[in-house]
Amino acid sequence: MKIIRTKYSVLVVLLVLISLAEFGSCRKSSYPAELHSDELIVTLGRRLFFDNTLSNPSGQSCGSCHATSVAFSDPAHNIVSPGVVPGLFGNRNAPVAMYAQYVPALHYSIDDSSYVGGLFWDGRVNTLEEQAQKPFLNPLEMGNTDAAMVVAKLQRSENLSYYQLAYGNITDVNTAFANIAAAIATYERSEELSPFTSKYDYYLAGKATLTDAETRGMLLFTDTLKGMCANCHLITPDAASGKVLFTDFSYENDGVPKNPYNPYYTLPGTYNAAGQSYIDLGLGDFINDSAFYGTFRTPTLRNVALTAPYFHNGCFGTLEQVVHFYNTRDVPGSGFATPEYAPNIDHTEEGDLKLTPQDEADIVSFLKTLTDGYQL
Ligand code: HEC
Ligand code: HEC
Repeated sequence: MKIIRTKYSVLVVLLVLISLAEFGSCRKSSYPAELHSDELIVTLGRRLFFDNTLSNPSGQSCGSCHATSVAFSDPAHNIVSPGVVPGLFGNRNAPVAMYAQYVPALHYSIDDSSYVGGLFWDGRVNTLEEQAQKPFLNPLEMGNTDAAMVVAKLQRSENLSYYQLAYGNITDVNTAFANIAAAIATYERSEELSPFTSKYDYYLAGKATLTDAETRGMLLFTDTLKGMCANCHLITPDAASGKVLFTDFSYENDGVPKNPYNPYYTLPGTYNAAGQSYIDLGLGDFINDSAFYGTFRTPTLRNVALTAPYFHNGCFGTLEQVVHFYNTRDVPGSGFATPEYAPNIDHTEEGDLKLTPQDEADIVSFLKTLTDGYQL
């Protein structure tokens, strides 16, 4: 018995030694697999997204304007978010970075007689990779002068080791900058930014029940003679992804008034040559086509209850105001200021919906079911 036990313990020691040796070599041999593992890139991307040492001066990250607590929009609910240099601001409201992975590249759709897709409110970039490079180099956001400055900052960041694990040592600035953007884009495509865990998702799955007000709101939202919201904020699954995204990615001019409180109007001429008379022409400016002046991409409404203020210029502070605006914009005496750009406003699906105050409240109740993280 004693001998057996000794033999046994020798065997155990041997096994442990062998497995340790194997573990060591296993780690080495599996290194390339780790190198390309999405999980590692997602971790790196997440860390870079929230790394506030990569701005110039340091202090701002993507997460400063796209915080997890508010569905990756501006946690301070600014009309336009301040850049890292005090006193500077961008011209538009920070949208949710969530669900952005489903935005297709900008293209003209004959079916919709409209442009569709493209990231940013005006569709000016096509991929998350391309998008993620922009804020680093935008003087009104993270303020770096070039890619080399961003990469030099990464070399001093505590996230350098994660970068090296994922991509190896930095040998070339442009490759490293592209890798930074690629890691961030991979993170943005992770489940963390597209969880589909709203009450509405659970309702679709038969796990949650909508209240009477939410149900009435949903019916008004989809009714093509009443709210008509779903004409653009689609409630049917997106053809490409099969997901319900609450947008057809089309461009519309909603006739949103100028927002006089937008601090962008007061920036020095080097940033805003037009001063107070600046008009945001959206997609039309980007593609240089006056037919699309003042049009912006229809945003998803997922998590919209968390992301005030609303529209490209943060003109309205509450969902109640937004719905009242859609309902009465074109009704004489409604009191809304004149649109920022009037000629091509949509007057058929919005502006005079003849909804009652109860209808408006019900639509808002429905919009509140689109917030992720619903507890069953
Ligand atoms: C100073 C605030 C600020 C910072 C910092 C910032 N963003 Fe943004 N982000 C915005 C604003 C404002 C827009 C919309 C700009 C526009 O449409 O012209 C935007 C747009 C986006 C979009 C497009 C969403 C869509 O639906 O089209 C994504 C994705 C995004 N940002 C990710 C990032 C990433 C990644 C970083 C860091 C590399 C970052 N942002 C840093 C404010 C910011
Ligand atoms: C004709 C297409 C269309 C219809 C119909 C429509 N929307 Fe929109 N919606 C848009 C576009 C485009 C924007 C962005 C406009 C802008 O910022 O200038 C928008 C923006 C919004 C926003 C602001 C989202 C944000 O993140 O800032 C909300 C909320 C909203 N719509 C809700 C609704 C509701 C509720 C209805 C129905 C009563 C509706 N929409 C009908 C196209 C439409």
